[in-house]
Amino acid sequence: MRPPVDENRARLAVLARVVAKPDGDYLRQIDLDNLELGSFFRRYASPPEPVDLDSRSSIREDVVIQELARLLADHPSDVVRVLDVCCGAGSLPRKVLRSVGPDVARIEYHAVDRDTGCVETLKSLRFEFTGFSDFRIMQRQASDLADFEQGGADLIVLNNALHEISPHLYPELFSNFNCLLQPVRGRICVVDMESLPADSPEAIAINWSAAEVRTFLRAAGFSPEVTLHQKQTIVYQAHARHVPEGIDEGAIRLVIREMLLGKLNAAINLRRQLDAALARGADEFRSWLVITGSIARLSEVLAAMSASDDASKRNESGATNRSVAGDELLLK
Ligand SMILES: C[S@@+](CC[C@H](N)C(=O)[O-])C[C@H]1O[C@@H](n2cnc3c(N)ncnc32)[C@H](O)[C@@H]1O
Repeated sequence: MRPPVDENRARLAVLARVVAKPDGDYLRQIDLDNLELGSFFRRYASPPEPVDLDSRSSIREDVVIQELARLLADHPSDVVRVLDVCCGAGSLPRKVLRSVGPDVARIEYHAVDRDTGCVETLKSLRFEFTGFSDFRIMQRQASDLADFEQGGADLIVLNNALHEISPHLYPELFSNFNCLLQPVRGRICVVDMESLPADSPEAIAINWSAAEVRTFLRAAGFSPEVTLHQKQTIVYQAHARHVPEGIDEGAIRLVIREMLLGKLNAAINLRRQLDAALARGADEFRSWLVITGSIARLSEVLAAMSASDDASKRNESGATNRSVAGDELLLK
């Protein structure tokens, strides 16, 4: 079943039929590989509201500030370069400006986000950030930072953002981060929630436990330090240093795929229970929509992982063909 693009009334009619009759023909017709449907469910099951950090937990920002204070103290005559990836509308640099004191003038801050609204907001408020030695704004995919100086970042921050980045990008993302890290003192700092607060579920989010983050960072070749913090929801922070030999993108991809399949199975089982509850007349519409949106999202990510695996296999065989052709030329 493929809702017509840009016809909201038709989409709502489909949604109403699905909710009203969840175990009927409509559910069997759902094609979860249909990416249009993935975004369709996301729109209705999870309006992507930014989490209000001030009303949630300050730990996510505090750990970054501690890390920065340590870097500034350890290197008293250097400029410290921060790369804030998925920076949103700049709540972290504002907090840094308020918390670090005069040494903030030694911080060169690079704020990166793919969202036009966030980037335009930051540009229009650029004057707020003049306390940094430099404040640069880039509109980018998190995994696309190739033009940043290799080895030039002292601190790469992913604050409250990993759950939003599609996991099929993680191998490239962490590989690039590793290349960007200053080899001796550089750190990656990932701070996020193990699960979203119960009052603001988002089907688009793929949350990870601290143990899962530790496992895939180790698979990549990092030696991460991961800690847990009980706040309104459990928050983890993971720190990783530069890996001189580079990270293992294949290993991280395999581990993440396994974990995503586990999450998909769990979501399907939960959806089955909710199907039954709805059929009994229970008022579980919202939960049903969120979990169905999660299934669509996980399927979307797994499909993207398979597509990128196929593409890299094609590239590898292309590379082999080219080298065989090259050998032949040499032999002639
Ligand atoms: C929940 S907000 C967190 C913002 C900020 N780090 C903070 O703590 O306030 C997540 C941000 O990640 C950005 N984002 C999500 N996926 C991204 C990607 N693949 N590349 C770049 N930015 C991304 C979104 O646009 C959004 O601004």
